[in-house]
Amino acid sequence: MNILGIETSCDETSAAVLLDGKVGSNVISSQLCHTGFGGVVPELASREHERMIVSIVERAVTEANITKNELDCIAATAGPGLIGAVMVGLCFAEGMAFALGIPFVPVNHIEAHMFSAFIPESPDHQTPEGPFMALTVSGGHTLLSLVQEDLSYEVIGRTLDDAAGEAFDKTGKMLGLAYPAGPVIDRLAASGDPGFHDFPKALTSQSQTSRNYRNNFDFSFSGLKTSVLTWLRKHPPEFIEARLPDIAASIQHAIVSVLVEKTISAAQHYRVKAVSVAGGVSANSALRSAMQDACLRHGMELYIPGTVYSTDNAAMIASLAALMHAKGAAAKNRYDVAPFASFGARRP
Ligand code: KG4
Ligand code: ZN
Repeated sequence: MNILGIETSCDETSAAVLLDGKVGSNVISSQLCHTGFGGVVPELASREHERMIVSIVERAVTEANITKNELDCIAATAGPGLIGAVMVGLCFAEGMAFALGIPFVPVNHIEAHMFSAFIPESPDHQTPEGPFMALTVSGGHTLLSLVQEDLSYEVIGRTLDDAAGEAFDKTGKMLGLAYPAGPVIDRLAASGDPGFHDFPKALTSQSQTSRNYRNNFDFSFSGLKTSVLTWLRKHPPEFIEARLPDIAASIQHAIVSVLVEKTISAAQHYRVKAVSVAGGVSANSALRSAMQDACLRHGMELYIPGTVYSTDNAAMIASLAALMHAKGAAAKNRYDVAPFASFGARRP
């Protein structure tokens, strides 16, 4: 079964081919046209996807060493994402599947992150076997989901305000860092002291204000944002400049400790023995090592995709289509799927 996956929900144009359960190619083109705007400009994103989509799909098919006539099915992100951006990949994929006379599979981008542990990264790739606790942390979403063996899932916690990626990006912007600030904070923090300043960790055991944090698996990062802003206003620019790595490390520590504490206590509460972490923020080196340590301490298995599969990529789209196909939940031979903007709003 050869599956072409297409992903265009935000600022990466990506196409990947899964060849009989192996990643044959995973081409990702990151848009540079947003530099200087402090975020993704939706109109520019759509236009850039339109400009790149044909060449990226051609490269993915060529790098997989097949021709498009050897494809059995095409999958694309139908949402959530920037509607114009999603539509470029979705319409292209539906049109291509229609022209080739093969099934089209619409994929939910956040579910594709959530099930990234199943991307067949290597021939001996290990996947979770029983139920597991999935932490999905991207630029727009932060979710804890209890995933059952049959891959049905229940969202047991989500952010009440900002997503974890947004917390990195917005506090980074306050520090004058380029968008997306997550990877920049990660790099700066490597030489900083995480104990330099104690930024708030809302809805956790370390929070001053929340008494009722137990069995509450929701997140909140807007207080951290305010606290960073207040702290920055109280300190002179030269001091901030000189202590940038320490500030970055302290912000990162606040975000990472919340993510780790919530995930582990949710896994304990639901008595599961495995944890998965996915989405752009799962590329964060401090999160990877803190979650690894915590899982080791609690006798839990940890599944985190390689960093190329953490941030937006089409291999996760093709991989989820393969899982859906294996469950008999995929191909409907429909080429008229509507895009959707929010997670859970409208399913394909
Ligand atoms: O999953 P993703 O690529 O796109 C969305 O679906 O949103 O996630 C993007 C987010 C951005 O907020 C970015 O700053 C964050 O992931 N990110 C990181 C790192 N790499 C990407 N955050 C912290 N550390 C990183 N190394
Ligand atoms: Zn994403």
